[in-house]
Amino acid sequence: MNRIFEKYISCKSCLKLFSILLFVLCTTVAFAQNEPRTILDFNKDWRFYLGDEAKAKIITFNDSDWRTLNLPHDWSIEGQFSKHHLSTTQEGALPTGIGWYRKAFTVSTSAKGKAVFIEFDGIYRNSEVWINGHSLGIRPYGYSSFRYELSTYLKFGREKNVLAVRVDNSAQPNSRWYTGSGIYRNVRLVTTSQIAVNQWGTFVTTPTVTSQKAVIALQTSIRKAVGRTSKGELPTIRLVSTILDAAGKEVATQTTQSVRLIDTLITVSQQVDVSNPILWSVEKPYLYKLVTRIYNQNRLEDRYETPLGIRSFKFDPATGFSLNGQPMKILGVCLHHDLGALGAAVNRRAMQRQLELLKAMGCNAIRTAHNPPAPEFLDLCDEMGFLVMDEAFDMWKKKKSKQDYGLTWDTWHKTDLEDMVRRDRNHPSIFIWSIGNEIREQFDSTGITIANELASIVKTLDTTRPVTSALTENIPDKNFIYRSGALDILGFNYKHEAYADFPKTFPNQVVLASETGSSLQTRGHYDMPSDSVRMWGKGGPTKFTDGNPDWTASAYDNEAAYWGSTHEQTWKVIKKLPHMAGLFIWTGFDYLGEPHPYPWPARSSYFGILDLAGFPKDVYYLYQSEWTNKPVLHIFPHWNWPKGKTVDVWAYYNQADEVELFLNDKSLGVQKKTGDELHVMWRVKYEPGTLKAVSRKNGREVLIRTMSTAGKPAKIQLIADRTALNADGKDLSFITVNVLDEQGNLIPDANHLITFSVNGGGTLVGVDNGYQASLESFKANYRKVYNGKCLAIIQTNEKAGRIRVKATSEGLQGAEIELVSQ
Ligand code: GAL
Repeated sequence: MNRIFEKYISCKSCLKLFSILLFVLCTTVAFAQNEPRTILDFNKDWRFYLGDEAKAKIITFNDSDWRTLNLPHDWSIEGQFSKHHLSTTQEGALPTGIGWYRKAFTVSTSAKGKAVFIEFDGIYRNSEVWINGHSLGIRPYGYSSFRYELSTYLKFGREKNVLAVRVDNSAQPNSRWYTGSGIYRNVRLVTTSQIAVNQWGTFVTTPTVTSQKAVIALQTSIRKAVGRTSKGELPTIRLVSTILDAAGKEVATQTTQSVRLIDTLITVSQQVDVSNPILWSVEKPYLYKLVTRIYNQNRLEDRYETPLGIRSFKFDPATGFSLNGQPMKILGVCLHHDLGALGAAVNRRAMQRQLELLKAMGCNAIRTAHNPPAPEFLDLCDEMGFLVMDEAFDMWKKKKSKQDYGLTWDTWHKTDLEDMVRRDRNHPSIFIWSIGNEIREQFDSTGITIANELASIVKTLDTTRPVTSALTENIPDKNFIYRSGALDILGFNYKHEAYADFPKTFPNQVVLASETGSSLQTRGHYDMPSDSVRMWGKGGPTKFTDGNPDWTASAYDNEAAYWGSTHEQTWKVIKKLPHMAGLFIWTGFDYLGEPHPYPWPARSSYFGILDLAGFPKDVYYLYQSEWTNKPVLHIFPHWNWPKGKTVDVWAYYNQADEVELFLNDKSLGVQKKTGDELHVMWRVKYEPGTLKAVSRKNGREVLIRTMSTAGKPAKIQLIADRTALNADGKDLSFITVNVLDEQGNLIPDANHLITFSVNGGGTLVGVDNGYQASLESFKANYRKVYNGKCLAIIQTNEKAGRIRVKATSEGLQGAEIELVSQ
């Protein structure tokens, strides 16, 4: 597709190629003339300047000494942590400020008469975009997707066009978590003819779904940028909508003849039936595709694709949620948008890895806390089978941080909310719209008017999904958003003690736990006794000096923020209450910012089930044992302690009725979960050696796990999540680095400095170790392991080839791994 597009647009650097590839391009050009719509990845070769430069919008501005880079780009993640940055530790303590991006390109004369748009999936924040010196618009909200039409300002032929983008993330603080800064999501250049499907112009719903038949309702919004024909007539088009199955076979089609384009925008409704539909579900996320074609006489004016999943779902106040008629619990996590060491810069593979790890844990739903995600994230959820609560805002008019979105609320909230719903409403994964998180207007009467306004904005665009808002106030009379009556579903954050009474407190209301937990853990760190719980805040420690001097939290599930609970406390309750439709745990992964309860140098959160590098904390296996059918037996902590110390050994297990623990082949007894227990524990006097756990069902062994005392650190081990990669300049391999003893046991407290070198077709783009108070740069070519582990992220170049990754450290045997990029 990109190559085709070079007929219309050729980037400066592509010009040289143009003459070399003349033959190839000629053939492509002929083909391109019949292409009604072209979508060009417009991420490459931008110039970037960190700082303000008023003249940079002018076309003749000389940017030759600016840095050249590819988007998506987040300049904050490239910086160093400092407590002197304007962005607080709440926001990750990385630099913010103002930045400029410029891109020069030429447009072939054959694009004259076409409609050309630049599409941004998201710029954090306060962006203004210019084409050839003309301002196209501003966009304050950093999470909205938007496009501008360039057509009338473009120059054709050899003349240069320049896009300039100013990004202003200097007003701080404007968030309660790390946001990133810059054009951190994808950019495309889209060319259509003057009669085309409008932006996000299809809307597909499935009003009737049975195993015999699905009725598919289609609405297509068609944009006409031309007036009358040469004969003075209004253009008349034919709309053909075709449903293809996953193999690309046509299963239904509907043609509407003679549509007169009386206005610049008209909407055409159609309906088709699909017989014996294969339903979309979280276990089997089957996707159809809608192909929309617009013909003017016999000329194809547009061809547009929309993914389609056929499914039905229902919420019931007494029995919770069902998908395609099957009752199920929503087993969800909340996620912020950062990708650890990659920051906010969107990368499809990095998001896919996160979702793979969550899927393997049994998670089936995501809440996009607290803003619309990147569109690719939703594509992945469609493809991988996750339900999504798509959330618009963390605040309404009443601010949470001094400089946040509340300041622009009056002017922008309608546009931002409408754009979110229009952009996202075709994703089968999305099943709830959330209009806000812990909104301050809960507590005064403005909550009534605003909630009603927002719900009606959503309903105007989509009535097929319920609207919720994540609430904290669970006394009905005191909650003005609840009293507005605008919510179809009541989402409550925390308050697990109140869940059982919800049917009485909120009769006939659908209720779910929109946020739970906020338990605190550092991977591989254990505070004992494990059965005493440290609740930070009211009733527990209030000063961070009451915590650990190395800013760690305990990875036994025994530490939490006072407004939350341990993982077990909440899951135990929800599991048993059918009226609780499900939960969204705070959070799936640690994220940058909000390092509660610690101040600087802590700079990322402790709430994740997996750490910032994506390494599971022990509690991951609690959920895996409860939420999947995989046999699980997980024992922890590690087995390196001072001799004689009393150590609590925990096991999460399933598909067994007991676990027996042995130390150096001596039985320490059999334990069984009783009542609503979710783990078993042995209190053991430590001696070095080997712990062995055996789970049994009806006396037959199910699983065996062993763990031995590690000796001296001896060697580095590298494990790549994928060794065969795409040479597309985007694909990633996530390489786990372990420090082991001679026998291959992980050294549980190793903190060696590892240095990386990468040769061949790839680049090191990020390093991390998941430690919340590490101040090392994510972009360095070295990293200390933390509790035995660190991570290196390798990105392919566009040139195929082998990639050799080498890791060395003083006093350890180094390691090498080979990746193949093609
Ligand atoms: C919630 C809030 C989240 C996060 C969390 C930390 O109250 O909705 O955004 O701040 O607390 O525990």
